[in-house]
Amino acid sequence: MGGAERGTLMRIDRQRLEEAFEALGKIGETPKSGLTRLALTDEDKRARDQLVAWMRGAGLRVSVDRMGNIFGERAGSESLPPVMMGSHVDSVPTGGKYDGQLGVLCALQVIRTFNDRGVRTRHPITLVIFTNEEGARFQPAMIASGVMAGKIALGDAYNARDRHGIRLVEELERIGYLGPEPCAPRPIRAYLELHIEQGPILEEEGCTVGVVEGIVGISWSRLTLHGVQDHAGPTPMRIRHDALAAAADVIRAVRAIPGQVCPEMVTTVGRLEVSPNITNAIPGRVFMTIDIRDPKDKHVTGALGLLARAVKDAASREGVLTELERSWQVSPISFHPEVVGAVERAAEALGCRSRRILSFAGHDAQYMATLGPSGMIFVPSRHGRSHCEEEFTSMDDIEHGANMLLLAALELARQV
Ligand code: GLV
Ligand code: MN
Ligand code: MN
Repeated sequence: MGGAERGTLMRIDRQRLEEAFEALGKIGETPKSGLTRLALTDEDKRARDQLVAWMRGAGLRVSVDRMGNIFGERAGSESLPPVMMGSHVDSVPTGGKYDGQLGVLCALQVIRTFNDRGVRTRHPITLVIFTNEEGARFQPAMIASGVMAGKIALGDAYNARDRHGIRLVEELERIGYLGPEPCAPRPIRAYLELHIEQGPILEEEGCTVGVVEGIVGISWSRLTLHGVQDHAGPTPMRIRHDALAAAADVIRAVRAIPGQVCPEMVTTVGRLEVSPNITNAIPGRVFMTIDIRDPKDKHVTGALGLLARAVKDAASREGVLTELERSWQVSPISFHPEVVGAVERAAEALGCRSRRILSFAGHDAQYMATLGPSGMIFVPSRHGRSHCEEEFTSMDDIEHGANMLLLAALELARQV
């Protein structure tokens, strides 16, 4: 796209975007204006149905693949691989309304703007909504883009079970989103995802938008500690094998790992299940998850070594048995210079104050980057908060991000 064309600076319709955001945000809304819309629940189905209706209303050819990923294609003037734009509409429990669905709605708004202006592009433009990005209900996160990228086997994804033992494939079928299209690697011209930052950097530095350079490596582990369940009264301290006491040692050790490896690293024990979980019994069994993230694979590997050592030490101190299993790992990725460049040029054209930034949150773009040139746009998160009901991004910032998405998509899809 030449400077003259960019000079016209096509803009999205902010009010229409705001209206769609309000309407979609009602589906699964919590009393505190957050969102609980776990993947493949009735709320997820309602949100999907609404989006499919809007996509059809925008003239898109809608299809669904075997993982329930939804695609809405706007034809290009040539038969070429599409520029894909999108994100996810599932949420974590008591999460916010911006994580995921903002990227989907901005992409939809960009397409509506192209329709209103009669824009034609050489490459088709496809809106994509990925299934179960969060990994809150079915593990791992980004499971459906993982299958699409050929990194996760379809059978493994179908057999992922939620906490009640329900299989992902059963829920896909139940809500009517077990589609016929293959979920497999396919050619793309580019993949673009707008998302909230979910951290404090853009706000701290007074930036309106972030030009995302890449995503850190993520590793998930599962640990079960088997102690001896016994009475909390008559059992002397000297003969106890308390699974929760050992777990507490592991939690402290996990928290200390970044200090030993790299100051940028982050580690989290986010899930803990204690059995029998009553006041007057020594815990016989504890299950926990460990999440490790770092820009470098070798740091993640080092952290996993320290984790294994900490588990061994805690187990021998308390005399408990342990099972430590690495359940998911995704390598750090750098986004494609052409897409990063398109995003940066869009920020410049709009006069947005931006900076380059690395994502510490996982996104479907991480797997899409293995299929073709990919990149992301970040908009600031108030106080850096996310995965909580307080999540918020101002409409001014969202509007800038959406207009950047529009310009970057136009450049990559080659306006005719
Ligand atoms: C997804 O939200 C993740 O970063 O875990
Ligand atoms: Mn997200
Ligand atoms: Mn999330």
